[in-house]
Amino acid sequence: MKTIAVLTSGGDAPGMNAAVRAVVRTACENGIKVLGVVRGYNGLINGDFIEMDLRSVSDIINRGGTILYSARSAEFATEEGMRKAVRTCREYGIEGVVVIGGDGSFRGARDLSERGIPCVGIPGTIDNDIACCDYTIGYDTCLNTIMEMVDRIRDTTESHDRCSVIEVMGRRAGFLALNSGIACGATAILIPEIPFEIEKHVIERMKRTQRTDKKHFIIIVAEGVGLDVKQLAAEIQSKTGVESRATILGHTQRGGYPTAKDRVMATRMGNYAVKLLMNDIGNRVVAAQKEEVLDFDIFEALNMKKSVDMELYNVAHEVSI
Ligand code: F6P
Repeated sequence: MKTIAVLTSGGDAPGMNAAVRAVVRTACENGIKVLGVVRGYNGLINGDFIEMDLRSVSDIINRGGTILYSARSAEFATEEGMRKAVRTCREYGIEGVVVIGGDGSFRGARDLSERGIPCVGIPGTIDNDIACCDYTIGYDTCLNTIMEMVDRIRDTTESHDRCSVIEVMGRRAGFLALNSGIACGATAILIPEIPFEIEKHVIERMKRTQRTDKKHFIIIVAEGVGLDVKQLAAEIQSKTGVESRATILGHTQRGGYPTAKDRVMATRMGNYAVKLLMNDIGNRVVAAQKEEVLDFDIFEALNMKKSVDMELYNVAHEVSI
């Protein structure tokens, strides 16, 4: 293998830079040329490449975002776009591509692999919604960012005897909401995977804890449940008499310095991905399970299902009262 490319695609996630760094350094150390692809699959279509060397990834291990920029490419989803990307890869002698991103990015990697360009996916998304992994790059940083933000909100919520309804990201998954809800001692956590009724799971729960003299409340809502948190706050206020405010944490959750865990895992995964390509193994997704780094066939990985840990949900329910 003489030349590989690396790209970041989809929503950025803290730790992506650490993964890019590991890919570039591992490849350089093994005599492989690396092209950094700018703006995800769009860059692959248009030949928007930067030749990377050891020093082009200096001082990025600590930086959020992605130095390669990211995009969700509509053109790459078309047959013509895909053909162009394959042509560009052939033109530049690219024999393997490392794709850092989420499920959508892996579908692109699968399609490219099917057309003869071996790809290896590295899971990078704050949502932690990739079925073959119990951890994705950026999830740990995001969880800690949410915790810090909610701790701040808690201070003022407590001072005013209020209820704060806080919406967190996660796309269609509730992993961020469930775990941040536990870490922040939320009175109720609403996630898309588990059916709920506002009356029973929020209002009655709040009233019960009010009777034990609790006066301030944190309610965590996953964006995937599709609720309007302002409306929910108004409903809570009118039904419980507790003054309520809504906060949507939004994109603050996606930025910032990656945690040690995200840096270490991203480094391990980046190194692992290049080793796969060096051994002529493509069409794989690098995964993390119980701190171990392993790999799966992309097709299989995309067909796997991931469910919420009910034990964890029950713990949250029992303790945050
Ligand atoms: O997948 C990461 C994520 O941040 C989701 O949690 C969220 O639903 C989505 O991306 C937001 O996308 P955008 O940055 O395009 O608004």
